[in-house]
Amino acid sequence: MWSKNASFESGVLHLAGIPVAKLAEEFGTPTFFLDEDAFKSRAQAWNKGLHDEFGAHAGTIFYAAKSFISTAVAQWIKEAEIGIDVCTGGELAVALAGGIAPSKIELHGNNKSVAEIDRAVKIGIKTIVIDSLIEVERVAAAAKKYGVRQAVMVRLIPGVQADTHEKISTAHEDVKFGFSIASGAAWAAVQRVKECPELELRGVHCHIGSQIFGSSAHETATDRLMSFMARYRDEFKEQLPELNLGGGFGIAYLTDEKTVEPADVLGAIHRAIDKSCAQYSLDFPQITLEPGRNIVGPSMFTLYEVGTVKQVDIGNGQIRTYVSVDGGMSDNIRPTLYDAEYTAVIAQRVSSAPLALSRLVGKHCETGDIIINEIQLPSDIAPGDFIATPATGAYGRSMASNYNHVPRPPVVAVKDGKARVIVRRENEEDLLALDVKE
Ligand code: LLP
Repeated sequence: MWSKNASFESGVLHLAGIPVAKLAEEFGTPTFFLDEDAFKSRAQAWNKGLHDEFGAHAGTIFYAAKSFISTAVAQWIKEAEIGIDVCTGGELAVALAGGIAPSKIELHGNNKSVAEIDRAVKIGIKTIVIDSLIEVERVAAAAKKYGVRQAVMVRLIPGVQADTHEKISTAHEDVKFGFSIASGAAWAAVQRVKECPELELRGVHCHIGSQIFGSSAHETATDRLMSFMARYRDEFKEQLPELNLGGGFGIAYLTDEKTVEPADVLGAIHRAIDKSCAQYSLDFPQITLEPGRNIVGPSMFTLYEVGTVKQVDIGNGQIRTYVSVDGGMSDNIRPTLYDAEYTAVIAQRVSSAPLALSRLVGKHCETGDIIINEIQLPSDIAPGDFIATPATGAYGRSMASNYNHVPRPPVVAVKDGKARVIVRRENEEDLLALDVKE
């Protein structure tokens, strides 16, 4: 759960050699601390893993910007020479601000606006992943306008129910994304794309969901997509060159979980592709992936300060200790949205006090503002203690809100004993910046 350069020295949490109390003193709380080296290593591990496994058939690792992006992180992506998947104009703007070349960017989304598509085509984006029939026309019109032939992929729904929370499962039939293979929608989409001379169909895409363990869902999806590629080959007498299997690789949030490493899944995916190639007489396609959570999730922790501690009698002779920190659902909405589970430690000191049934909550005016529903924390926990929750890098800061007009926390990158702000803390001026005085 903890990133590569996080360590406990005499029970005190350090990141890249800096004790958390020092980090808190310099940057305040709540703050997301990002282990820069861990992020870069994880990005490189996916890139190397893809190339080692697939050799000449390795396509691109597109880091999923939605998990977390900032201009500095976009620069790291550029330096790592991988690609980036953006799904809005805003994410595109950050990728470009970080210097990522349009030839390394892929555009996703089930409702890309005409303006977003126009801009993407205009700047020469590498690929647009088509998600609806309306979009086929929009992308074709933009390509015509700029006199280019735009590379596109078609997002397919293979009808796989991934073993994850229903809100982050994306490849069963009744979803807003892509085109169902089973219903014939996918075939109709491909036929329409083929009628547009402005579009170059590069291949098929699927993303089956997020926080998935094992490789069986990806293997099933592979088979269904490749069966579709075979139908395409039979009809159009040419093979689609690319297969994009999306992201979704799970990470550890709790001590008994294990983060998926590239080597854990790439071999199995390779074997599934080999099998489908043999079964459908296809040439081995180029393989592309879009991990987000798996790269940034384990690379960050959130540091909070305890503000109040309260013992609540919950009946049957039981007491629950409510530990309130200075953030909450505005910087981590995942427990509320997906019943996501986290763990936490007192970060700046060791405690030998007996453990007590506790609930880690935020400062928002809402009962559901819970970071950890049930956790055993030392009973001497007190205001002023720092609490760290590991593995908050993905969909933490990126889904943060200003609920209750709480300023969003900063992101501080730490590397080799040095820490620097890469996203600054919001302040009251920011909170008032959009208000118009009558
Ligand atoms: N590719 C596509 C097309 C996606 O829609 C996503 C995530 C990814 C790649 C990256 O998935 P990852 O490797 O990060 O699992 N907010 C939710 C997760 C939503 C994921 C949306 N799509 C959460 O906090 O769990």
